[in-house]
Amino acid sequence: MVENVAGVIADLEPEDIHLLSGVEQGMRFSEWVQRSDLPKYSGLNHDDLQYRIDRCADRELIERKTIQYEGYTLTFEGYDALALHTFAERGTIDGVGAPLGVGKESDVYEVQSYRPMALKYHREGYTEFRAVDREREYTADRDHVSWLYTARQAAEREFETLEALYPDVAVPRPIDQNRHAIVMERIDGVELRQAALDPSDVPAVVRAVFEVYADAVADGFIHADLSEYNVFVTESGVVIFDWPQAVATDHDNSAELLERDVENLLSYVARKYPNAAVATDDPARIADAVREGRTAVADALTNARD
Ligand SMILES: Nc1ncnc2c1ncn2[C@@H]1O[C@H](COP(=O)(O)OP(=O)(O)O)[C@@H](O)[C@H]1O
Ligand SMILES: [Mg+2]
Repeated sequence: MVENVAGVIADLEPEDIHLLSGVEQGMRFSEWVQRSDLPKYSGLNHDDLQYRIDRCADRELIERKTIQYEGYTLTFEGYDALALHTFAERGTIDGVGAPLGVGKESDVYEVQSYRPMALKYHREGYTEFRAVDREREYTADRDHVSWLYTARQAAEREFETLEALYPDVAVPRPIDQNRHAIVMERIDGVELRQAALDPSDVPAVVRAVFEVYADAVADGFIHADLSEYNVFVTESGVVIFDWPQAVATDHDNSAELLERDVENLLSYVARKYPNAAVATDDPARIADAVREGRTAVADALTNARD
């Protein structure tokens, strides 16, 4: 499997991109695109087409199946290559570097540009698609939601949320979005789960997290997946990231989701720093404070210690 598409994209030629975007277009109608439809979608002629199919299949950018008919589908590396190509064309990035992290539903790489950036490829929908597809094989299912669509929607939602929050709220600065990928500021810090905090610093860090969260709520957003995995501790404070599942504060479940977020963070703190002076036993009260704003957060966490 191609681990990092950066090396691959370097030797992709314009006709390879035509083929990949042809397969992408066909995938709007079915997961496996018939070989006979590819000239139409890719604009490539007969001779060129076979050559491009072989090149892209060798590089694992597309996958071939020949059961009822000869069909092709993009692998996620193929979809990555299309997004990367677009970012390169737009001048957003110059190159891709080392992996920064693998999340539950994403791969994140460092990217080179005029400043350090992070490129996040969303993978939502891909794993389920593979599992379903094994059984389904070639049956064209009109209701089937393609993983391309699911992953792209997650990227769009995350990017829109970052754009709404930045710079009022300490989140990564959004830079660009294409297909299932977003480019954002690279945060220089450690994930909260990996930070070895001095117990005396824990109250200030917890307070900072909920102050940032209060800012997000003031801007109308509930994170809905807050945990020690989605908070960076940096030299200058904390940054909350990973926003694709965020919901609006006027969403039906927003109160519950906010309380669950607060509870997640507090229970992590209680487990990891049992001796820190943080009241971790009343998430509902802290959640109320987060909804009220920064000052309320500071009060709630300070009073809890008395
Ligand atoms: N802006 C960023 N700067 C630096 N590292 C990042 C950035 N965004 C994500 N990462 C790294 O990638 C990992 C996965 O990103 P995340 O947004 O949490 O995706 P997931 O939804 O898959 O959990 C994170 O745990 C983090 O280590
Ligand atoms: Mg995450």
